[in-house]
Amino acid sequence: MKNRYTVFSILIAFSLLSLLALNSCAKKETTIRIGVVGPMTGDQSKMGLDVKNGTELAVKEWNRKGGVLGKKIELLVEDDQHDPKQAVAVANKLVNAGAAGIIGHFNSSASIPASAVYNRSKVPMITPASTNPQLTEQGFEYVFRVCGRDDQQGLVAAIFVSDVLKLKKVAVIHDKTTYGQGLADEFKKALGDKVAVVYYSGVIQGDKDFRSVLTAIKGKKPELLYFGGIYPEGGLLIKQARELGINIPFMSGDGVIDQKFIEIAGPASEGSYLTFSPDPANIPSAKDFLNSYKSIYGEAGPYSIYAYDAANIMLQAIADTQSTDGEKISKTIHNMKHSGALGELQWDVKGDVLRSPYIVWVTKNGKFEEYWKPSEAAQ
Ligand code: ALA
Repeated sequence: MKNRYTVFSILIAFSLLSLLALNSCAKKETTIRIGVVGPMTGDQSKMGLDVKNGTELAVKEWNRKGGVLGKKIELLVEDDQHDPKQAVAVANKLVNAGAAGIIGHFNSSASIPASAVYNRSKVPMITPASTNPQLTEQGFEYVFRVCGRDDQQGLVAAIFVSDVLKLKKVAVIHDKTTYGQGLADEFKKALGDKVAVVYYSGVIQGDKDFRSVLTAIKGKKPELLYFGGIYPEGGLLIKQARELGINIPFMSGDGVIDQKFIEIAGPASEGSYLTFSPDPANIPSAKDFLNSYKSIYGEAGPYSIYAYDAANIMLQAIADTQSTDGEKISKTIHNMKHSGALGELQWDVKGDVLRSPYIVWVTKNGKFEEYWKPSEAAQ
C-alpha cells in the first residue's frame, strides 16, 4: 500500500513538474524580448531614462499594431549605473533572459565591455549614444550605433576653436572615462599645432570640488576650457570656474547637452559651447515622434529620439527577417536603409552610421541653441 502511494505521489509530482516546464516554455514563446539598458539610477539617470522612454515608446507603437512576428514585445529594462562591471553583469542577464536585441548601453565605458558579451552571444546591440570610436573598431558583427563618433565631434570642436573663435591657447580636462578622455584626446589631436594645449588633466567622476584643478588652469592663462565628460561634473566645473574668476569660454561635447547641465551650473552655463547633432525640432521626420513622446513623458531628452529610432530599427530587422536569429538580424541591419524619426540611416561594415553630422550649440537664456555648422566636408 505504502509503495502504491509513493508511486502515485511521484507520478503527480512528475506531472506537475512537466506542466510547469511546459508552461514556462509556452511563456517564453509568447513574447519577443528586447532589452534596454543604461544608467537608470544615479547621477546620469536623466539620460538613462530618456533612452528607456524612447525605446518604450517604439515598443508601445509596435505592440499597438500587434507586436512583431505575431507576438507582443516585452521590454526588459536594466540599470548599468554607468559602471563597466555592472554593464557586463546586466549584459549577461539580458542574454540569459533571451533578449533578441539590445538598445544600449548609454555610456561608452559601459557599451564597450558589454559589447563583447553580446557579440559572443550573437545578440545584436544598437547603442543610441556611445560615441567612442573604439566600440565599432573591434570588428564586432553584432554591434551598431545610431549616433556619431568622437573623432567626428572632436574635430568639429577643434575647427570651431581654431577657425571660428580663433584662439591660440586652451586647457583640456576630462573625467578619465572611456568617453570623456577619448573625446578630450580627439579634440587635442584635431587641434594639432594650430592651438596650444597649455593644460591637460583628468578629474575623478563623482567628485564635487574642482577648485584645485581650476586654480592650476587659471595660472596657465588659457583662452578656453574644454571638458570631455558628462553633465554632473561639467555643470560643477563651469560653476566653480566662474566663482574663481575664470571667465573664458567653456566647451564640451554631447555628454553635457541636457537641462540638468544648466540646472547644476545655473547662470554660469550661459555662453557655453558644445558639439552635438542638429536639433530634431528642425527635422520634419522627427515631428510625430516629438509630439507622441511629449504627450507621454514630457519634453524629449537629447538621446530619446536616438533610442526610439534604434528600437524601431531592431524591431524592423526582426520583422524583415521573420526571426529572432541574431545572425540574420545583424546582417539585415548592415544592409538596411531605415527611414526613421532622424531621417534616413544606413550602416557601414563596422556598424557605424554612414552620416552623423555634428554642429556647435550654445547655451543662451537657460536653453541650448544651434550656433554654428561646419562645412559638409568636416561633418
Ligand atoms: N556619448 C557619450 C558616451 O559615449 C554618452 O559615453
